[in-house]
Amino acid sequence: MEYKELMKRAIEAKKMAYVPYSKFHVGAALLTKTGKVYTGCNIECASYGGTNCAERTAIFKAVSEGERQFEAIAVTGDDNQYTFPCGICRQVMVEFGKNIKVIVGKSEEDYKIYTMDQLLPHSFTPEDLGHQCGGC
Ligand code: THU
Repeated sequence: MEYKELMKRAIEAKKMAYVPYSKFHVGAALLTKTGKVYTGCNIECASYGGTNCAERTAIFKAVSEGERQFEAIAVTGDDNQYTFPCGICRQVMVEFGKNIKVIVGKSEEDYKIYTMDQLLPHSFTPEDLGHQCGGC
């Protein structure tokens, strides 16, 4: 699947964002190595720490359905700006492989592609605990 199409799915997923507090909508679309797409939105909570980001919603949906090998994740937010994954989401991404591509976009036409090493250099990974990565 092309990244343009993955970004389209993220933009679509953003519509489902539950954001009564921040009013900041985020959508994500995760492409598995087998070509399936899992989407996610951010889901906020009156106890703010209970909030789940769009990226982790997509990753947790996929993992809970048996998927662990990921090719790429597209992320898009509000305000016509590039919305980058937060630190917690970056850490969850490297759990499932240091080669996942992160597509950060404003629209289907306007996006940038990053490697996990660019977004989370010198990361702490499952290998540091003597484990294989979650998707390896
Ligand atoms: N948010 C995401 O969904 N993904 C990110 O990587 C950045 C932040 C959400 C969390 C919260 O609902 C809102 O954006 C404002 O922080």
